[in-house]
Amino acid sequence: MTRINEIVTLARQGNVSVVTLNNPPVNALSHALREGLLNAIAHAGRDKESAAIVIVCEGQTFVAGADITEFGKPPKDPRINAVISAIEESPKPVVAAMHGTVLGGGLELALGCHYRIAVPSARFGFPEVNLGIIPGAGGTQRLPRIVGVERAIEMITSASQISAAQAREAGLLDEVVLGELLAGALAFAQKLVTENRPLKRVRDRDEMLKPVRGNTELFAKARQSVGRKARGLKAPLAAIDAIEAAVNLPFEQALQREREIIMAQVGSDQSKALRYFFFAEREAAKIPGVDTSNQPKVMQAAVIGAGTMGGGIAMSFANAGIAVTLIDVSEQALEKGIGIIQKNYENTAKRGGMSEADVGKRMGLITPSTKLADVAGAEVIVEAVFENTQLKKTVFAEIDRHAQPGAILGTNTSTLDIDDIASATKRPESVIGLHFFSPANVMKLLEVVRTGKTAPAIVARSMALGRQMRKVPVLVGTCDGFVGNRILRARSKQAEQIIMYGGFPHQVDGVLQEFGFPMGVFAMGDMAGLDIGWRIRQERGLKSPVADALCEMGRLGQKTGAGYYRYDPQNPAGARTPIVDPMVNELIVKASNDAGIERKEMNNDLVRERLLYPMINEAAKILEEGVALRASDIDVIWIYGYGWPRYRGGPMHYADAIGLRAVRDRLREFEREFGEAFKPAALLDRLADEDKTFAEYTAEVKAGAAKLESAAA
Ligand code: CAA
Repeated sequence: MTRINEIVTLARQGNVSVVTLNNPPVNALSHALREGLLNAIAHAGRDKESAAIVIVCEGQTFVAGADITEFGKPPKDPRINAVISAIEESPKPVVAAMHGTVLGGGLELALGCHYRIAVPSARFGFPEVNLGIIPGAGGTQRLPRIVGVERAIEMITSASQISAAQAREAGLLDEVVLGELLAGALAFAQKLVTENRPLKRVRDRDEMLKPVRGNTELFAKARQSVGRKARGLKAPLAAIDAIEAAVNLPFEQALQREREIIMAQVGSDQSKALRYFFFAEREAAKIPGVDTSNQPKVMQAAVIGAGTMGGGIAMSFANAGIAVTLIDVSEQALEKGIGIIQKNYENTAKRGGMSEADVGKRMGLITPSTKLADVAGAEVIVEAVFENTQLKKTVFAEIDRHAQPGAILGTNTSTLDIDDIASATKRPESVIGLHFFSPANVMKLLEVVRTGKTAPAIVARSMALGRQMRKVPVLVGTCDGFVGNRILRARSKQAEQIIMYGGFPHQVDGVLQEFGFPMGVFAMGDMAGLDIGWRIRQERGLKSPVADALCEMGRLGQKTGAGYYRYDPQNPAGARTPIVDPMVNELIVKASNDAGIERKEMNNDLVRERLLYPMINEAAKILEEGVALRASDIDVIWIYGYGWPRYRGGPMHYADAIGLRAVRDRLREFEREFGEAFKPAALLDRLADEDKTFAEYTAEVKAGAAKLESAAA
């Protein structure tokens, strides 16, 4: 065996050279890997005893893409294209022998090989648009030559993955290896030794492109449908440009075009935000002082409360293959809850989202019960009863009597004091907030709320459980509203103010949608039902002139056919599409007059800043209080829980990109004009003065904590 460098080795087995890449964790195409691979191919080329070359990877996966940490830095030769080109030009056949997730640059590398084989569990895809770029090493050029233009557009613009069986069927794979991969690869390579020359190169294939050459309609249609789905994300449309170039230009020229497109994208704000978010999401899993890895899998759960949230949470457990006892003291409520779950699954099956057998399997994992004592077998218990402290405390006292030692005692409260709830038990160290988002079976975000007493082992297990449930768990501390809803409240307050001072619901919602949110504040209120907020305001003695007036009129939102907007079941655009209602605008103007407010027209920039900057300000307070561990966690929460557009990186990254000084100065202007509510948070003020970012602040806090830890050690 020859060691080419620290991560690439070359060995010969009979007359086949085996290049092995070992660049954990995902064999990303780092500079060292590219250099080592290029050298290994050259070595193997010179080896007279070698008649074919196999590229194989150690670890969890074949190459899963370019090294994202190198993006935005000065490129270092050899570039990926040069390595792929050397492989493609090799006079000896090169075989990519693949396992794991073959993504992005990894798949492009494979497309440069003369043959591709893989184990049945391997998956293939181009996730680049999720990073705000297109495949930039020939992926937009070679993929359509194999799978056809329409399928390539679909795969690249949606970032979807396909299985080995699908890849074989599409012609992307030459063989699916059923036994051991390397043995299969050697046997496959053996057959190539006597293969006719010249070798087949993907770049030379034209049969899939020829029929659509000059077909502008195909691309126009694709742009229309992809543009609709992309909702402001630019990369998918740019990918279509590159694929169109593949169809209509000679290979080298089209490859150059692909290069120009990706180079422009790497420096774009969208790509910077998306790359930031890629790492932010992974960072959220890491909790200082708590090892969340190697946690035992949860096999048995219990959910208390068979209402909308409880039902959705039970489905989330079943979806992850975890057996769950769904408990409700009312037989009737339980029956209704189980019925809704069954219907939800059946609807999914009808839409083709799962098989009938799957419906049976998941329903089989859910056991209804009316006895709280049935929490006894569960490793995790999630209470999801009505938001009332006394009720929850009664439930927790009962849980405490039956739950096994070490069980996670979770509450799904979104508003109540978890310490208070925990005080009903003799084991407050086992109590934690597990704040799911509605619909719980769909939404990815899970706020894991640690109290001052929660044991590290319970935190670790809860975070691991979140991942087991295929959610995105983010650890937060206790405060009113936790992280997500506390920031949401800041925005809602502004939205209400804006309509009192000159704006209208459709303007506010339009601005948010233009920014990239799937829905505006008022349309969302209509969807959730305006009576929820009305009830809470009544309990707390609060008023909201417009919302209260709408509720008093029976306009509770979509469910009553009207709220801030009107809804028409016959509307060709859809029964849930909001229709602006002049009556509501009149009601708003009247409310302003009654309050003695002189309405002034607001432009969209002002509306956007008044909505978003107070959110950033609230987030700064949250960060300063330590309720969030880092700025990026707040971004993960807002992207996964509240529809903040990914390509804007979340509120903290957005603020960093604008510059904290500019945000702080604008808040000060608002404070002068509209009052105390806009007063910049102390942390924001300080960072603005120091010309620092929230990301830098988080890094400083992290470095400080590490220093303390090593000093203590
Ligand atoms: N570059 C650098 N680091 C990467 C990486 C990449 N492409 N992919 C993953 N990592 C890192 C992660 O940051 C993480 O690091 P930490 O442990 O320090 O947090 C570690 O590898 C493991 O990643 P995951 O936690 O995500 O592991 P997983 O097993 O859950 O998933 C995966 C593995 C499916 C490969 C997933 O990591 C993934 O989707 N990676 C990104 C793949 C991608 O986007 N590839 C395209 C890159 S762009 C490109 O290739 C452009 C081109 O055209 C040349």
